[in-house]
Amino acid sequence: MTKQTEIYVAIDTKSANDAKKLIRQLHNKYCGIKIGKELFTACGPEIVLWAKKEGFKVFLDLKFHDIPNTVMKACEAASRLNVDIINVHALGGKEMMVAAKSAVSGKKIKLIGVTLLTSHNKDFLEEIGLKGNIKDCVKRLALSVAESGLDGIVCAAPDIPNIQKYLPNDFVFITPGIRLGHINGDDQKRAASPTDAVNFGSNILVVGRPVTGASNPNEVLHQIYNQLCN
Ligand code: C5P
Repeated sequence: MTKQTEIYVAIDTKSANDAKKLIRQLHNKYCGIKIGKELFTACGPEIVLWAKKEGFKVFLDLKFHDIPNTVMKACEAASRLNVDIINVHALGGKEMMVAAKSAVSGKKIKLIGVTLLTSHNKDFLEEIGLKGNIKDCVKRLALSVAESGLDGIVCAAPDIPNIQKYLPNDFVFITPGIRLGHINGDDQKRAASPTDAVNFGSNILVVGRPVTGASNPNEVLHQIYNQLCN
């Protein structure tokens, strides 16, 4: 595994007990934990603090999008939980992202902008009046994330080669939609294998169901970790 490559396992459960049962099967040497809206809304900060206490890095995936002052306060509150990564929607605009940045500057926390969601398609762009195609929009949003001083973006791994050259060298690319071996059609439309994702330029791989749905989650996690090491 290159020095910068990390794996975060998405714990998309609706109860703290289910989440803890899953997390206890994983080794913090191989992964961090991604906590999203479902688990956080159901359990609150307690599950974040518990995962940190168990020695895991935590990506708090709440994708803030609101007026600048509210997002700034939300980022301040998230940073008090001692998490490692938080994120905001790039569609919230530069003023909002700059406010978010002001809440975490000087702190050891990565602030990431979400470009377009994997559920967004060309009809969505038309519906809300965004110019250009998906590729144009991802590029435009990625540039506004960088110009706002954030640390990186969430995007599909195959998007990275189209945009990397326009972005700072130390920009972080976080990629969900990781699938193992034969990629069969589930709801992740533009999936990549772990090695392909890293070859595309991903620094942080977010893996959910391929690990959490396995009969031995830590074994699958270890396999991915080893693939990236070799
Ligand atoms: O189970 P799976 O590997 O598809 O999980 C991917 C995780 O990444 C989920 O928690 C999902 O909400 C999140 N995610 C995503 N696409 C994005 C942003 C986040 O799949 N664009």
